[in-house]
Amino acid sequence: MESNHPPLPYFTHDNPYHEKLKTFENFVLRDNEGENYKGKWNQEAFKRQAPLILEIGSGYGHFMRDYCSKNPSVNFVGMDYKFKRSFNLAKKLSTLQEENFFYLRANATRVDCLFGESEIDKVLYFFPDPWPKNKHKKKRLFQEEFLKKVHKVLKPNGKFFIKTDHEEYAEWMKGILMESSLFEIEMMSFDIRSDFPDHFLSSFKTKFERIFLEKGIPIKGFELTCLKD
Ligand SMILES: C[S@@+](CC[C@H](N)C(=O)[O-])C[C@H]1O[C@@H](n2cnc3c(N)ncnc32)[C@H](O)[C@@H]1O
Repeated sequence: MESNHPPLPYFTHDNPYHEKLKTFENFVLRDNEGENYKGKWNQEAFKRQAPLILEIGSGYGHFMRDYCSKNPSVNFVGMDYKFKRSFNLAKKLSTLQEENFFYLRANATRVDCLFGESEIDKVLYFFPDPWPKNKHKKKRLFQEEFLKKVHKVLKPNGKFFIKTDHEEYAEWMKGILMESSLFEIEMMSFDIRSDFPDHFLSSFKTKFERIFLEKGIPIKGFELTCLKD
């Protein structure tokens, strides 16, 4: 049968969890498998109109599972590039009652390949790997190029929420944001729980966040609004 879609570039992986993730193919899409939904996640994947939310770096999925259970009326896409972690999360997601989510085992640098222009209502990005050594800083996900990709896939006035424990990474993000005219900084704090206790970002704790809070590390956060004509 002829496909409506052009062939996608092929990814190969030695990691055994790449194959194992097929067990959950009703909601897990690997690498470029989500690209056929680009621009039509609500219509063709979720088959309903609802706010589309993307969480980058879902990790062990504490936030994703809790949020999907408490917010059945959103269309939620979780994403992480770690194989085994994704498999373990997929197992847990498969036990949820709600069917308001998909999961991408994919690299967030490809966010603009997986989502269409102005498609997403909110992007969430909690406790990104800080790559603290100078020689590794180029591995940080939050770079000008990445910001442009997130801007592209967000709707006008769409939101980008970020939390981190890492002061220097927060300064790095602030520097990139100050240089950019793509987003309005609605909220920026180097201790959100003290400064904005009623803010959405202060209303939950992710797995990594609990560890940092136990060590007494203040949580930094940004709420950004996507500016488009
Ligand atoms: C420190 S953990 C935080 C996990 C979770 N958000 C939390 O707060 O508990 C960072 C997560 O981001 C994922 N990650 C880092 N870079 C990524 C990328 N480029 N694409 C997708 N996931 C990424 C890692 O695999 C890891 O699971």
